Amino acid sequence: MRSGSSLPSTPVLAFVLGLFGAYVVLQAFLFQLPAHTPFHPLDVAFWAALIWIARRSAVRLPLNASMSHLFVVSLAAAVAFPPWLAPLLVFVFSFNQDFGKPSYPWYKDLFNRSQFALATGLAAWVWGLVQAQPGNPYVLEGLGILAASLTYFWVNVSAVTYIIHLSSGLSLGKVWFENYSWLWASYLLQAPIGLLLAKAYQTPLIWGWGGFTVLFIMLLLYFSRYYWDEKVQLEKAFDNTIEVLIATLDAKDPFTRMHSERVAAISRDIGKRMGLDEGDLKRLTYAARIHDIGKLAVPDSILLKPKKLSKEEFDLVKKHPAKGLEVLHPMLHLLAKNVKHVILYHHERWDGAGYPMGLKGEKIPLWARIVSLADAYEAMTAGRSYAPAKTPQAALDEIMAHAGTQFDPQVVEAFKKVWLEDPIWKDREEFLRRYTSPVLLSVSSSPSPSEPASATSATSSSDRPGPS
Ligand SMILES: [Fe+2]
Repeated sequence: MRSGSSLPSTPVLAFVLGLFGAYVVLQAFLFQLPAHTPFHPLDVAFWAALIWIARRSAVRLPLNASMSHLFVVSLAAAVAFPPWLAPLLVFVFSFNQDFGKPSYPWYKDLFNRSQFALATGLAAWVWGLVQAQPGNPYVLEGLGILAASLTYFWVNVSAVTYIIHLSSGLSLGKVWFENYSWLWASYLLQAPIGLLLAKAYQTPLIWGWGGFTVLFIMLLLYFSRYYWDEKVQLEKAFDNTIEVLIATLDAKDPFTRMHSERVAAISRDIGKRMGLDEGDLKRLTYAARIHDIGKLAVPDSILLKPKKLSKEEFDLVKKHPAKGLEVLHPMLHLLAKNVKHVILYHHERWDGAGYPMGLKGEKIPLWARIVSLADAYEAMTAGRSYAPAKTPQAALDEIMAHAGTQFDPQVVEAFKKVWLEDPIWKDREEFLRRYTSPVLLSVSSSPSPSEPASATSATSSSDRPGPS
C-alpha cells in the first residue's frame, strides 16, 4: 500500500470512527422525523452539484486553513429540504480537490465527510425545532438560521480543533486561537446568505425555477473568492519578505545563529507568565524574531568584530533600533504599534541608562522590557567572540542581580519562574539541537487530517522554533 494509506494514531482513528458513528446515528434519527418539505429528484441533483462545486473551490487561508462556500450551501439545503436530505447529500458529495490522492488517505476523507454531515444534520434539526415553535414566522426564520449556523460552526470547529489537537499535540486553545477565533464572525455573516439561497430556491423569480436565482447568487459569491485570494497572497508576500530579512541577518553572523528564534521563545514564555493573551503572545513572538532587523544596516566589520568596540563603533551599533524601523519602512503600516516599540526600545534600561531614548521604568513599553531581558539572557548563554558563554545558572544570577537597574523587576520575576520550569530554551545547545533537527521540522510541518469548510490543518509559520 502507499504511504498515504497508513493508519493514523489510535486516538485519531478512534475519533474519526466515533464521528462517523455519530453521523450514522444522527442520519437514522433524522430519517424518522416527519418531513413536510416536498422535493423533486432534479432538486437533489442540483444541490448535490452545488455541494460538490462548493467543496472543490476552497480558497487557501493563512495558517493552512481554507475557506469554501460549503457552509452556505449546506445551510441552504438544510433549510430548503427535509432534515435528512442535506446531511446525506453533504456526506456523499463533499469531495475535495485532493480526493483520491495519496496525500489524502481514506480516514481524512471520512473525517471531513462525517464532520460536515454531522454539522449539517444537527443544523437542519435545530432549524426544524425552531420552526416548530409558535410565533411570527419571520422572527422564527431569523432565530432559526442563527441557531442553525451557530450549531454548524460549533460542530465543525470543535471536531477540527480536537483532531488537530490529537494529531499534533498542540493545546486546544492554541489551535482554536490560530485557526478559528476570527472565523465565527464570518460564519454569522454568511448565515443570512444560506437562508436567502433557500428562499430564492423555493420562490422562483426567473423562468419558473428558483435554481437560476441560486446560481446567480453563487456566482457573486464565487467571485468574492478573488478578494480572499488577493488578501492571502499579500499577507504571504509580507511574511516571506520578513523571513528573508531574518535569514539574511542570521547568515551575517554564525555566532548569533537562531538568536532571534531563541529570544522569541523566551519572550513568549515570559509574556505568557505575565498574562498576555494568545493574540498578544503571537505578536510579541513575531516582534522578538525581528527585533534586531536594524543590524542589517550595521557594517559587518563592526558587527563581527572579535574585539571590544571603540566608542565611535558602538555609536553606530546604537543606531540599529532606529535603523530597524527604517529597514521596514515600506511595510511599517502593516506592523502593530507594540511590534514597532519592541524594535525601537529593546535596548532601553529600567534605570534610564539605555539607548536610543534613555526611557526609564514603565515609560519603556512592556513588550520591549520583556524582549530586552530575553535578548540579554540569549546573548549571555550564547557567548560572543570576545566573551565566553555563561552557564544558564550564571546567566540567571546575573539577570537577577540587575533587577531594578537594567531590567524591570517584575519581568525578572516572571522570567525566573519560567526558567525554573526548565523550558527548552534554558540550555542553548539543547534548543539548537531540537529546532535544527530535520526530523523535528518534518514533524511540525506534517498536515493534519482535516480540511473543513472554513478552516483546517495544524501548523503555521509561528510554529517554527520561536514559540514553544
Ligand atoms: Fe538589538
